[in-house]
Amino acid sequence: MRKILIVGNWKMHLNASQASLLVHRLQENVKIYRDIEVVLAPTMLTLQPMSVQLDRRKFRLAAQNAYFKDEGAYTGEVSFTMLRDLAHYVIVGHSERRHIFGEDLPMIRDKVAASFRNGIMPILCVGETKQEKDDGETKQVLHDQLMTALSNLTGDEVERMVIAYEPVWAIGTGDVAKPAQAAAAVSYIRGYVKDVFGEKAAADVRILYGGSVVEDVIHGFLNVPGVDGFLVGGASLNYQSFAGIVNSTRRWQREQEGDNGE
Ligand code: PGA
Repeated sequence: MRKILIVGNWKMHLNASQASLLVHRLQENVKIYRDIEVVLAPTMLTLQPMSVQLDRRKFRLAAQNAYFKDEGAYTGEVSFTMLRDLAHYVIVGHSERRHIFGEDLPMIRDKVAASFRNGIMPILCVGETKQEKDDGETKQVLHDQLMTALSNLTGDEVERMVIAYEPVWAIGTGDVAKPAQAAAAVSYIRGYVKDVFGEKAAADVRILYGGSVVEDVIHGFLNVPGVDGFLVGGASLNYQSFAGIVNSTRRWQREQEGDNGE
């Protein structure tokens, strides 16, 4: 059974004291749910202090990015090696990295490989732009992004990683995808994994939806077979909205179990 995963991507928001306050509030407002994994992705600067503050029974940490070389003359970069023992996950290939910082397909492939080399799970982001969607190229874009990023991996690795379907047009726009759109993309991604890496990898890989996720929309996505959780940007910066997403996911789970109690 794939465990539901909810990741809060704080992007370039919150200094150390703001981050500490948000963690404090989240720890008060998010309960421990055995069947839901909750991950916070703060800035590089705050990973270390947060690792001390965080209640590990409730949250895991993710880095938002890392460089694929293990060490060397790479001014301004932090390696996956340096994040060992600190971050459980690293977000790789976020559309902001692809589009603002020019990360290309081979670089993202190298980052996924570096992630596994260093014992950190990648959360690989894939998704099409509005233009690509309008041109009917969504599947082709997903195919190319997956083919490159996963090219050096084994089925055993792919089954443990996370893939986030994030249509670029839905990120930070309030223009959330329709569950049917996510359903088509997620089923394409799982089908690709099945064709290339086999049944077990396809059954176990977790696939998230991301892009303008707020509490009101999550039940619609959780009802889509194969959506295993969310990558949340803006709504993860406020403890009420993020706790609302986690707690409402738990309510959905209870409904599936036929139990309406808390
Ligand atoms: P958003 O960001 O929820 O603010 O749209 C999602 C993301 O970039 O992962």
